[in-house]
Amino acid sequence: MDAREMKIKAAAAALAHVEHGMRLGIGTGSTAEEFVRLLAEKVADGFKVEGVPTSERTARLCVELGVPLKSLDELPELDLTIDGADELDAGLRLIKGGGGALLREKIVAATSARMIVIADESKLVETLGAFALPIEVNMFGLVSTRIAIEKTAAKLGLTGGLTLRQSGDGDFTTDGGHYIIDASFGRIPDAEALSSALNAIPGVVEHGLFLNMAALAIIAGPAGARELRATR
Ligand code: A5P
Repeated sequence: MDAREMKIKAAAAALAHVEHGMRLGIGTGSTAEEFVRLLAEKVADGFKVEGVPTSERTARLCVELGVPLKSLDELPELDLTIDGADELDAGLRLIKGGGGALLREKIVAATSARMIVIADESKLVETLGAFALPIEVNMFGLVSTRIAIEKTAAKLGLTGGLTLRQSGDGDFTTDGGHYIIDASFGRIPDAEALSSALNAIPGVVEHGLFLNMAALAIIAGPAGARELRATR
């Protein structure tokens, strides 16, 4: 089974948790896109949901495939969000933001009664941090914010390169008009401490650590999809 097939397996298993009439947060990334494709097939057969997309990219796919969308202001409280992750551990702590949508993803997940993460088994790790942590920062004061991140991380014993994310034609900007700094810490033994410390830096808009948010992860491997519940 290749990576795409595993993503489809996880997405199909997540679809079983979606009930008729639900207000649904719809994630971003290649795994979430497989979910959108399967959801669109159900919608075409008469299944009713109202979706709130977590990025312009996801919104475009939903419109193309006929998944009905609302804005978060129209549907400010959601029943369920289904989204991918760049890394997750057994406690269902996540790193997200590889696709640059972490701010909207976190806002949407936080307003949802439940969040289900879908991923192939390569995303499951013992300790978070091999995937560089995306940190969304305001354009104003970029250099100061970067220095503050470096100092904050060092106090927690974390070192590693901080890279301003690039896209084809220059600096990458998010849907919200911010930059992303990718922090290659290697290992993040205390994600809670790092999360609080980053949140205290004024120029940090949000970061990609999603803690105490996911209720369930659906992990697909060659043998099929299995469910993982938070051990906290
Ligand atoms: C988007 O910003 C991310 O948080 C994605 O959810 C994450 O990068 C997973 O993407 P893939 O499913 O493409 O690996």
